[in-house]
Amino acid sequence: MEKLVIEGGIPLKGTVTVSGAKNSVLPLLAACLLTNERCRIKNVPNLRDVSTMIKILRSLGASAEFSNGEVTVEAKNLKSHTADYKLVSTMRASFCVLGPLLGRFRKAKVSLPGGCIIGVRPVDLHIKGIQALGAKVDIQGGYVVVEAKHLSGGNMYLGGAFGSSVLATDNVMMAAVLAKGKTVIESAACEPEVVDLANFLNKMGAKIRGQGTPCIEIEGVRHLHGTDYQVIPDRIEAGTLVLAAAITKGDCVIKGAFKEHLAAVLDKLSDCGVRIEDVDGGLRVRPRKSLKPVNVTTLPYPCFPTDMQAQMMSLMSVTPGVSVFTEKIYPDRFMHVAELNRMGANIMREGPHAIIEGKKLLSGAPVMASDLRASAALVLAGLVAKGRTEISRIYHLDRGYENMELKLQKLGARVWRDRE
Ligand code: UD1
Repeated sequence: MEKLVIEGGIPLKGTVTVSGAKNSVLPLLAACLLTNERCRIKNVPNLRDVSTMIKILRSLGASAEFSNGEVTVEAKNLKSHTADYKLVSTMRASFCVLGPLLGRFRKAKVSLPGGCIIGVRPVDLHIKGIQALGAKVDIQGGYVVVEAKHLSGGNMYLGGAFGSSVLATDNVMMAAVLAKGKTVIESAACEPEVVDLANFLNKMGAKIRGQGTPCIEIEGVRHLHGTDYQVIPDRIEAGTLVLAAAITKGDCVIKGAFKEHLAAVLDKLSDCGVRIEDVDGGLRVRPRKSLKPVNVTTLPYPCFPTDMQAQMMSLMSVTPGVSVFTEKIYPDRFMHVAELNRMGANIMREGPHAIIEGKKLLSGAPVMASDLRASAALVLAGLVAKGRTEISRIYHLDRGYENMELKLQKLGARVWRDRE
C-alpha cells in the first residue's frame, strides 16, 4: 500500500488545471450501454473508479478502451444484463447501470451496493422511479431485479428524506429516454453532473428538457446513436484546489474552476476573507492574511456540497474563532474529525453537527484516510501543518483525484508518495 508524505508550511503558488469530473464520467460511461453504436468520451480522469466502471461495462460484454484521457465504448454485443456484486460493492456509482440496462433490454439485475463508511445509503428513490416507468422490481439474493414488458413514461416525485438524489435522477433519466411516452421527474437533482448526463443523452438523440432544474421532462425515443462528448471539469477537485490555495495563504490560478458550479463554496470563502477573481478559463485565489470563521450547512446543489464539507473543515481548523458545521446529506460523514484532531485541531462532533475551534497551527502527524473526501481534507491539513504528515490508505484519494500530488507539486508543495 502507498502513503502520501507532506511537509507542510509552504504557500502554494502557480497555475494548475482541474481534471474531468468523476461524478459525470461514471454515469456517462453507463449511458453508453443505451446504444449499440460507438461513443467516445473525452477529458476522462485516470481514476480507480473509472477503471471499475470500465470493468463493469466489459463484464456486461461491451468493449471499452481507455487511452490518452479518452474512453471509447461499444456496447454492440452485450452478453449479460447482470452487474455482479464483486464489482458493484467496490463502488456505489456502479448502481447507475440499472437504468441503461433496463432501457435497452427491458430487464436488469444489479447488485445492491450496500452501505459505506459515510453512512447508510438506501436506493428506495431509484426503485420508486423505475417502478413509475412500469417496471416490476424484486430484491433477490442481494440483487435488484427489474423487468418491464412495456417501459412507459411516468410522473414521479423523487424527493427523499435528505432531498433529491443524484444517481436516482440519473438512473431514471437513462431508463426513461427509451421508454414509450413522456416522463416527468419532480424534485430531480440539479447537480451539474446531472446536466452533463442529460446533455450527453441529448447528443445521443434523447429528448430531455429541464435539466438543472427540479423538474426534468423526458420524451421517449425509439433508439439512441453513438456520439463524442467532452466531460465537464470536476467541481469538487476544483473546490479542493481552491481550498489548498486558501489554507496555505498562497496565490493560485485554478484552471477549469467554474464560478457557477462552486457558488456556495466561493460565497463562504468570500465571507471568510478569501479573494477570488475570474481569470481566463478559471479562478485566481488569494486569501487575506487573517481569515474569519464561517458556519457551513450541506444541502443538495446549488447549496454547499457534502463532498466539500471535510475539506472546508480543514480550513476552519486553522481559522481562529468558532464555526459550526451541519451535515444534512450524510449525517455520519465525520470520519475526518478524529484524524484532524490528531493533528492538533479542536473539533467536537455532536450528531450531525461539528463545532470547530480554529487553531493558529496544526502539527504534522501520521493519519489514516477513511474515504475519498476525508483523505482530501487530510491532504489540505498536511499542507498547512508544521512538520511532516503521513497519510496512509491513500488509495481512497486515488478513487477521485487524478495525480493530486503532481498538481500540488506543481504549485510548490513538498508532497510525495511512498510505500507504507
Ligand atoms: C452522489 C455523488 C456523491 C455525493 C452525493 C451527494 C456520484 C457518483 N456521487 O452520490 O459524491 O456525495 O451525490 O451529493 O455522483 N438517498 C435516499 N434514497 C435513495 C438515494 C439516496 O434516501 O434512493 C439519500 C442518500 O442517503 C443521501 C441523499 O439521498 O442522504 C443524497 O444521496 P444521492 O444524491 O443519491 O447520492 P449519490 O447519488 O449516491
